[in-house]
Amino acid sequence: MRRHAAGILLLTLAAAASGRGQAGPNDRQRPDPDAAARGRNVYVARCINCHGLDVKGTENGPSLIRSVAVLRDFEGSEIGPAMAATNVHAANLAEAERVDVSHFLKLQIETTARNRNPMEPPDVLTGNADAGRAWFNGEGGCNACHSAIGDLAGIGGRYRPSDLQQRFLFPRGGGRPETPTLVTVTPSGGAAVSGTLEFLDDFVVSLTDADGAYRSFRRTPELVVETEDPYQAHWDLLDRITDDALHDVVTYLETLK
Ligand code: HEC
Ligand code: HEC
Repeated sequence: MRRHAAGILLLTLAAAASGRGQAGPNDRQRPDPDAAARGRNVYVARCINCHGLDVKGTENGPSLIRSVAVLRDFEGSEIGPAMAATNVHAANLAEAERVDVSHFLKLQIETTARNRNPMEPPDVLTGNADAGRAWFNGEGGCNACHSAIGDLAGIGGRYRPSDLQQRFLFPRGGGRPETPTLVTVTPSGGAAVSGTLEFLDDFVVSLTDADGAYRSFRRTPELVVETEDPYQAHWDLLDRITDDALHDVVTYLETLK
């Protein structure tokens, strides 16, 4: 009985050791869909702004599809050290997150490899334009702020499809003037002051009011601060949009030429 148990333990250890020991650049880590899905959430929240929607990089960060560190990575073994090796990453990932992100990136690499086409980047226009239009004016709520014949008229001609998708998910920046955040500060017993947000942290809030005057307030529990981020609808979208809706709406926007 005892011997039997010890034998199993030894076998388990040997299997674990050989699994690790053999993992090298040429070993393929089979992407686990559940881990990849969790990794995708981490990626969307913390990496996508710089490494891009399709993981192929932006002006703020390199492609992780072509990264040797990611290709060599086994369950997070290389990603953590590679992130720590530069000072652009304010915080590294927890171990479990590294494993999940690793699975997500491996899956991304496989998908990219499958779609590889020497002529064109992978097609983001795989959706249904009619469904995209319906979503734009319905569940997506886009028509509250945009119009296909107003501000978004001709947008399909202004951007390549992959850039259009990036603009839609991350509309801030990209050389366009920033739409300011509005803020209203109400001191206890005092009159509310509204304006354009200049600075906000746990201790201070400051703004430029309608007359162009700079006003600063020390934050206390009594001080009520209400901000209105004009991009909020877009940040919220990242949490709720499905891949199908994303492909449909981008395909629809691309028809606005
Ligand atoms: C603020 C922008 C920014 C964010 C956010 C960001 N990165 Fe990076 N990352 C970079 C830049 C820039 C480099 C290249 C740094 C260098 O070469 O010194 C880089 C390099 C890397 C590398 C090394 C690539 C290589 O081949 O050497 C990895 C891996 C990486 N990032 C992973 C991540 C992950 C995972 C996240 C999210 C948890 C993330 N990064 C978030 C900007 C960013
Ligand atoms: C609450 C208001 C609001 C809602 C709702 C909203 N957006 Fe936006 N959107 C903005 C703001 C503000 C900008 C940035 C202004 C700009 O760059 O022209 C923007 C920018 C964009 C851009 C980039 C425009 C460009 O020329 O670069 C696209 C594309 C876009 N939105 C599509 C959508 C779609 C599709 C939806 C529906 C899911 C949506 N938006 C919902 C406010 C909103």
